[in-house]
Amino acid sequence: MYIMKNYYKEIFKRKSFHFFIGGEPTTEEDVKQINEFIKTVEPLYPDIKTEIRIVKEKETTCHRGADYCILFYSEPKEGYLRNIGYIGEQIDLYLTSLNIGALWFGIGKTREKEIEGLEYVIMIAFKRMPEGSFRKDMFKSKRKPLEEIWAGEEMDIANIVRFTPSACNTQPWFVENKDNTLEVYRYKKPGKRGIMPIDKVMFYNRIDIGIFLFILETCLREKDVKYQRELFADLSDAEVEKTLSAKYKM
Ligand SMILES: Cc1cc2nc3c(=O)[nH]c(=O)nc-3n(C[C@H](O)[C@H](O)[C@H](O)COP(=O)(O)O)c2cc1C
Repeated sequence: MYIMKNYYKEIFKRKSFHFFIGGEPTTEEDVKQINEFIKTVEPLYPDIKTEIRIVKEKETTCHRGADYCILFYSEPKEGYLRNIGYIGEQIDLYLTSLNIGALWFGIGKTREKEIEGLEYVIMIAFKRMPEGSFRKDMFKSKRKPLEEIWAGEEMDIANIVRFTPSACNTQPWFVENKDNTLEVYRYKKPGKRGIMPIDKVMFYNRIDIGIFLFILETCLREKDVKYQRELFADLSDAEVEKTLSAKYKM
């Protein structure tokens, strides 16, 4: 069975292919390999049932020139959105390692809204792209400055986790490093109105936090930092600034 060992270097190379222009057709062999990989992903919550299906892009409302879309379905249990983010980011980075371009596509819809009682959550579109079309300098990507997402003692990884992808680039995370513990919060700037309606913001930002936790853990592992993770329920839709998501005791 395939084991993906080096997610870390793919963080620098990944990007969203908002439009898949050029590239080569994704082969059936690629799809088979991706399906094999999907069997090996590690969930954040092993007890939440999920289903992941690959369909042709034309079976969805995604028209970005991709070949296929990966559809994520889940039991709607506490933590299910960050679980999907955490799993999906493993796939995003794996696709990057194969020179397959990807796009988390939140606004996408699909015909099958439910599979065996599991709800449709989100999709990732993909197509094989030329190696040269991937990211060349991650540090040039548009992101919040470090001081807006990190407090307490700085770590090298802070300047890497900053580049985690998020819906509409909202970057809804905040980390506090104190007493050898990283506290990760879902962050919502008070009163700030973006282009997304508030219920959508709450939905996507919980997926974003799962993506962030996976990138953060990948960076900690790369630096050989041992940690114990504790996850916290994030159930309230109240518009508070910071909601504790996870703690990493180092
Ligand atoms: C959960 C999620 C949903 C997203 N949904 C969309 C979408 O519907 N349409 C789109 O064009 N991009 C979508 N994106 C891509 C983001 O706009 C992109 O990740 C962000 O701007 C950062 O850019 P980068 O991924 O190239 O680093 C989504 C990203 C995430 C993580």
